[in-house]
Amino acid sequence: MKALVYLGPGKKALQERPKPVITAPTDAIIRITRTTICGTDLHILKGDVPTCEPGRILGHEGVGVIDSAGPGVNAFKQGDRVLISCITSCGKCSYCRRQMYSHCTTGGWILGNKIDGTQAEFVRIPYADTSLYPIPAGADEEALVMLSDILPTGFECGVLNGQVQPGSTVAIVGSGPIGLAALLTAQFYAPGMIIMVDLDDNRLEVAKRFGATACVNSAGGSAVEQIMKLTGGVGVDTAIEAVGVPATFELCAKIIAPGGVIANVGVHGVKVDLHMENLWDRNITITTRLVDTSSTPMLLKSVHSEKIDPKRLITHRFKLGHIIDAYETFGHAADTHALKVIIEA
Ligand SMILES: NC(=O)c1ccc[n+]([C@@H]2O[C@H](COP(=O)([O-])OP(=O)(O)OC[C@H]3O[C@@H](n4cnc5c(N)ncnc54)[C@H](O)[C@@H]3O)[C@@H](O)[C@H]2O)c1
Ligand SMILES: [Zn+2]
Ligand SMILES: [Zn+2]
Repeated sequence: MKALVYLGPGKKALQERPKPVITAPTDAIIRITRTTICGTDLHILKGDVPTCEPGRILGHEGVGVIDSAGPGVNAFKQGDRVLISCITSCGKCSYCRRQMYSHCTTGGWILGNKIDGTQAEFVRIPYADTSLYPIPAGADEEALVMLSDILPTGFECGVLNGQVQPGSTVAIVGSGPIGLAALLTAQFYAPGMIIMVDLDDNRLEVAKRFGATACVNSAGGSAVEQIMKLTGGVGVDTAIEAVGVPATFELCAKIIAPGGVIANVGVHGVKVDLHMENLWDRNITITTRLVDTSSTPMLLKSVHSEKIDPKRLITHRFKLGHIIDAYETFGHAADTHALKVIIEA
């Protein structure tokens, strides 16, 4: 089968690889119909994710059809259409029993990281019963690819942890796929104001179309002043950090209103300063989270009932045979205006 293989920092190739086989009774083999590329795949290619070793097939998002299922798989049978979660969950360990699937003692984020992933014609999914979701009849598969990772991430790590409420004031720092997913799902709660922050005017334009009430380009260094002005000098009730660099976390700390919540989503590679001398008396909360995908069943219903349309995040489409071009397009988003690319296997 064809597969996109990580070959060490800066190196990848489309290779012929053997079709995966069932290695545990709870495994299923999925024939991939659609997958995508995540910003995290670019982090891996930069060498930022040491758990991902050369030779690994990348990809942790996708939809497909059950090709075969082990004798311990009860919820799915050959031919069923399924959504693959980026988080593998045994369903039984103490973390899984608390719906903290991201910390599953034998799962978590392993797909396209510690085990071969979805950017291939077939993938082996461990714990199929609890790591796959049935696709409702008539559902749009492309839209559902957005539910493997980015929608639950924006919603759980940003909106739920950030306690977005009706009428409240929200700033989302970072208008990439994750920030935009937080923007779409924040609107479940009808906040009074959603301010989007980015350096890229094109992404802020998209945010405006997706329901942002104000957009701030932070390139000029006046983002704090602009956000304070927009909020009558008070700051925001929820600040969602969706970039993963020190400057954007520190921006969140400067714009948070008394009693507010800073919800960190970004993956941080370097240390970030926490200015307790300014924050100690502000009654604020800071949260961190690795996506659990515990909200996936709810999000499936929301997409099915057309309460949200994650298909709006898709900007480009490629065949698996052209996945190298897909990486080029996705990796140069400022020029190509790419958000999510669909790869058809
Ligand atoms: N916590 C989790 O479980 C989880 C899951 C998936 C992704 N992530 C992380 O979420 C973050 C966002 O993911 P993404 O795919 O949207 O990334 P992305 O790189 O596509 O988007 C980041 C956006 O931030 C903007 N940006 C960069 N520097 C900025 C600055 N100084 N000020 C304002 N904006 C700036 C960029 O222009 C871009 O639009 C990444 O760090 C990713 O690794 C976390
Ligand atoms: Zn991802
Ligand atoms: Zn578990």
